[in-house]
Amino acid sequence: MAERIIPLADHRLLNTAPVVPSTLEAPNGLLSDTLARPLQDLRISVTDRCNFRCVYCMPKEVFDKNYAFLPHSSLLSFEEITRIAKIFVAHGVRKIRLTGGEPLLRKNLEKLIAMLSDLKTPDGAALDLTLTTNASLLARKAQALKDAGLQRVTVSLDSLDEATFRRMNDVDFPVADVLRGIEEAHRVGLGPIKINMVVKGGMNDQEIVPMARYFKGSPFILRFIEYMDVGASNGWKMDEVIPSAEVVRRIGAEMPLQEIEPNYTGETAERWQYKDGSGEIGVISSVTQAFCHDCTRARLSTEGKLYTCLFATSGHDLRALVRAGRSDEEISTVIAHLWRARSDRYSELRTASTEGLTQAVRKVEMSYIGG
Ligand code: GTP
Ligand code: 5AD
Ligand code: SF4
Ligand code: SF4
Repeated sequence: MAERIIPLADHRLLNTAPVVPSTLEAPNGLLSDTLARPLQDLRISVTDRCNFRCVYCMPKEVFDKNYAFLPHSSLLSFEEITRIAKIFVAHGVRKIRLTGGEPLLRKNLEKLIAMLSDLKTPDGAALDLTLTTNASLLARKAQALKDAGLQRVTVSLDSLDEATFRRMNDVDFPVADVLRGIEEAHRVGLGPIKINMVVKGGMNDQEIVPMARYFKGSPFILRFIEYMDVGASNGWKMDEVIPSAEVVRRIGAEMPLQEIEPNYTGETAERWQYKDGSGEIGVISSVTQAFCHDCTRARLSTEGKLYTCLFATSGHDLRALVRAGRSDEEISTVIAHLWRARSDRYSELRTASTEGLTQAVRKVEMSYIGG
């Protein structure tokens, strides 16, 4: 794998501050891209660091003690994040998800949450404000997050089997501590809580049915994610992907399932409910059934680059605009132009040509851009 290691600095050098068009437009109004997809979700990475080394995300051999994580001065401040988020909200964003790395590692995160929870959509509604976490710090922080205005959390958990989970997080983190975090988040009312399990063939696929059994009938919605070729360091191979259809088949054989309608257009997960009425599961099939046609998600990296796709190779430097003293109107115009020009549909293209495509481009890491 060594020859595939890409110094993090590289892709950043490719990025330059976007040119501000000379004609400014209204600093609000809904946007639609070249495939008629509206801008509705903003995923904000608040740190590129994590205390886990999940094999499919931050493999130890790459993310070791010599890895160049971002210095603190590169990070967007809470004020900068809130200012940019407010402009996105004026353009139609209704959901903000904080990600990382591990977002709870960012100091005083609840302050940022309090600032973001004050934002309102143009019709005066509150945002859907949520966060994806590995839950290692959740038991300790759940109450403060709730008090700051966070609405819900999604927790990553790849196995209930101690040995398998420790092999996947690769830092010997115990399952019980994650479960304690989930319980505490539930107790303080950070629901509905979703549990994300990345399924990697030969690693944790034997845990699919035990995970389903464990969460069936609980208040938690378990979702199975197909292992993706995101980033450039996880050594992804198509034959390690367990298709969602197989996940549904394995669970359905023991606990019958039926498909149900999505909660909203563009939902990442396909929903299945247990026929006996004891809840639902979700499957996220980015590899075998790409959902780009409805993708409404923009991503803001830890250092303030805007990415219009999870699999992008370069971003647009909004921080440079902010730190150059550009006005809200100018930044808003840039965002509008970038979204209108958007044509990304990486997963649909990859589905057509599978592995070849993943080797050909240099993609940013998920821990940098945010899941
Ligand atoms: P809800 O708001 O609860 O529906 O959450 P969500 O599914 O939008 O967000 P979440 O962070 O739970 O996403 C689950 C997983 O789906 C992520 O960890 C990614 O693995 C994957 N995912 C999310 N968005 C995208 C996307 O735009 N493209 C691809 N290919 N995968 C995505
Ligand atoms: N494939 C699929 N999902 C991934 N995640 C991280 N890396 C990958 C990958 N290669 C998921 C995590 C978490 C979210 C942030 O992204 O499990 O749920
Ligand atoms: Fe950390 Fe989440 Fe990546 Fe695992 S998947 S290394 S918990 S950011
Ligand atoms: Fe959206 Fe890109 Fe994911 Fe497709 S691959 S769903 S365009 S983020």
